[in-house]
Amino acid sequence: MNILVTGGTGYIGSHTAVELLNEGYGVILLDNFSNSKPEVINRIKRITGKDFRSYNIDLLDKKRLGKVFEENQLDAVIHFAGFKAVGESVANPIKYYQNNVVGTLVLCETMSRYSVKKLVFSSSATVYGTDNNSPLTEDMTLSTNNPYGSSKMIIEMILRDLYYSDREWRVSILRYFNPIGAHESGLIGEDPNGEPNNLMPYITQVAVGTRNKLTIFGNDYPTHDGTGIRDYIHVVDLAKGHIKALERVLVEPCIDVFNLGTGIGYSVLDLIRHFEESTGIKIPFVLSGRRPGDVAVCYANPEKAAKTLNWKAEKDIHDMCRDSWRWQSKNPDGYKLV
Ligand code: WQD
Repeated sequence: MNILVTGGTGYIGSHTAVELLNEGYGVILLDNFSNSKPEVINRIKRITGKDFRSYNIDLLDKKRLGKVFEENQLDAVIHFAGFKAVGESVANPIKYYQNNVVGTLVLCETMSRYSVKKLVFSSSATVYGTDNNSPLTEDMTLSTNNPYGSSKMIIEMILRDLYYSDREWRVSILRYFNPIGAHESGLIGEDPNGEPNNLMPYITQVAVGTRNKLTIFGNDYPTHDGTGIRDYIHVVDLAKGHIKALERVLVEPCIDVFNLGTGIGYSVLDLIRHFEESTGIKIPFVLSGRRPGDVAVCYANPEKAAKTLNWKAEKDIHDMCRDSWRWQSKNPDGYKLV
């Protein structure tokens, strides 16, 4: 079985490529390296001892994308490629809709043309918006308050329409909560461009000395300690969830959506404490006002994925903190100096 992984050198894409290769799947990796480094390819090969083809292609390049389908016997696609910075999307919505939505349309059109109609799509819990109360379930009404989240919601709608127009399509939509952690080798991990938007990479950059201190966005939320609560999930658990979703689309005519979360919420202060306990490193922080668009509490009801995909997260918050730190301490500047 050959699987095309778009965005395969990204944080979640690279971890999923490792799990696919470990499971004996053939991988064809596609990335435009707009938010990742080619070095990741070497790291995936080092971890797995497996070889695979990779293409430096933008999904908007219809002609070159078609060649990938001509040159490879593809059985399914796992689609990660997309921009994912909420703040950037607010500042530059057209860039996000063009890249995320139009890119997905070109991909689906090409898949259809080559009769490859099995797809696992990388969506996000951000589509639950600010009006739903946790634990979040897949049947809740969706709403978004930023172009990044809207691009994910629009793509989910496109995939549903595609399925109902042609039942040969088999689609699994995966809504991620907050992926953190890294492969146990410390060879691959989260490597944000510039100043991190997300909490854990900021913490690890403080720990490794790249940043002086963490700023906590708001300590007046209605939570046990006033700071925001999120459902942190180990990126390897998330990757394994993609394998389960892939197995489903390979055999079942379906379209379905699944939460990939642990169902456990931790606050910002909880995460800092667990990181300090797991690594022995103190994380200095200052308190600041709330970040626009943030919700107080967001965590999954993961029961549907457990029941239908026979998948549940296995790694705990200690594993996540320890593995995030191993990656950052072994790669203080991410992949940058390579
Ligand atoms: C977590 C908590 C912040 C940074 C985002 C995207 C979402 C998904 C995951 C792609 C919040 C607090 C953070 C900092 C802080 N991405 N925080 N100081 O916002 O839950 O989700 O990433 O799919 O779409 O929205 O994750 O890590 O940014 O924030 O206090 O420097 O940490 O306020 O409570 P978030 P996050």
